[in-house]
Amino acid sequence: MCPIITDHRPQTFDAVIGNKELVSVLQSMAERERQHPGKISKTLLFHGKSGCGKTTLARLFAKEVGCSDCNIIEVDVSDNRGIDAVREIKRGARYKPIIGGEKKAYILDEFQGATGDAMAAMLKVLEEPPSHVFFLLCTTAPEKLLETIRNRCKKLKVKPLSDNQMAKLIERIAEKEDVKISSDFLREIISSADGCPRQALDIIDTIRDMDHKEAKKAISDFSISAPLEIIDLCRAMIKGEKWSVVRKLLDKIKDVDIENIRRQVFGYLTSAMKNSDSPSRQMVVAADAFRDNFFNNGKGALILAAYEAVKL
Ligand SMILES: Nc1ncnc2c1ncn2[C@@H]1O[C@H](COP(=O)(O)OP(=O)(O)OP(=O)(O)O)[C@@H](O)[C@H]1O
Ligand SMILES: [Mg+2]
Repeated sequence: MCPIITDHRPQTFDAVIGNKELVSVLQSMAERERQHPGKISKTLLFHGKSGCGKTTLARLFAKEVGCSDCNIIEVDVSDNRGIDAVREIKRGARYKPIIGGEKKAYILDEFQGATGDAMAAMLKVLEEPPSHVFFLLCTTAPEKLLETIRNRCKKLKVKPLSDNQMAKLIERIAEKEDVKISSDFLREIISSADGCPRQALDIIDTIRDMDHKEAKKAISDFSISAPLEIIDLCRAMIKGEKWSVVRKLLDKIKDVDIENIRRQVFGYLTSAMKNSDSPSRQMVVAADAFRDNFFNNGKGALILAAYEAVKL
């Protein structure tokens, strides 16, 4: 992750921009926990778009209820999806911390990535966590969680920022980072970031050393919010790269939801057409290869479409 994103992670609830109602819910829960320990829900589910502050708010809450940094354990569930990871978490949760106070919080990031078995194995501990433990689940796709898990959690929606809140965030960061942002660019960044603080920070970091023209193009590229490996694939196809290059890029794409990837590729390529005065034939051929639904054809459909995009 680029330093600008970690450097500006809010360290207190006061520094959080937007989501004020949610912040005040979290603050009053923490206050209750301090007054009457054990009375609040210990299993929270933060959900909302990627980069909108779920992990940030979960960490702040953990601190506010008395967990010191060394007792806030972050697990990226998309990398630790299975039953072994759950066992590890359950084992660790049994013991009170040795240093830094009595309480412990597990931030389970990207929880939708857990396998069905792993989710089922978490059920009981989520229902009745040990008294010294908080489980803070974060997800961009709450519908992918077992319903029984969702029902056990206090659900907290983290919303994207409004345009005004975004302007405040961009101005604050630009000032701290000593980056000049014209009012035109401010408007464009707000539009491209689409309410997502991480995206705004990423844009500021990307354009800081660019000239005006390059920066303008880079900001509009961000409006197509696709993961980097998908953008790389699209760029290679637009260039009409050799198949040997394209197939390496395909290897980097995780095939969790192929139809979703198709939609992102199609969206990127057609936006690139819209942003260009005269789209190249190669661009149109590539977009055309991604036009039809992949249904349940799995990664094979993606490979075939990418081949058609550069070979036909
Ligand atoms: N409300 C906010 N005010 C200021 N900065 C914020 C806010 N929310 C997020 N940020 C910035 O955006 C970055 C990303 O936020 P965070 O990691 O909490 O998002 P997330 O919702 O957990 O994303 P993901 O779904 O990808 O895990 C933070 O490091 C911080 O710099
Ligand atoms: Mg997160």
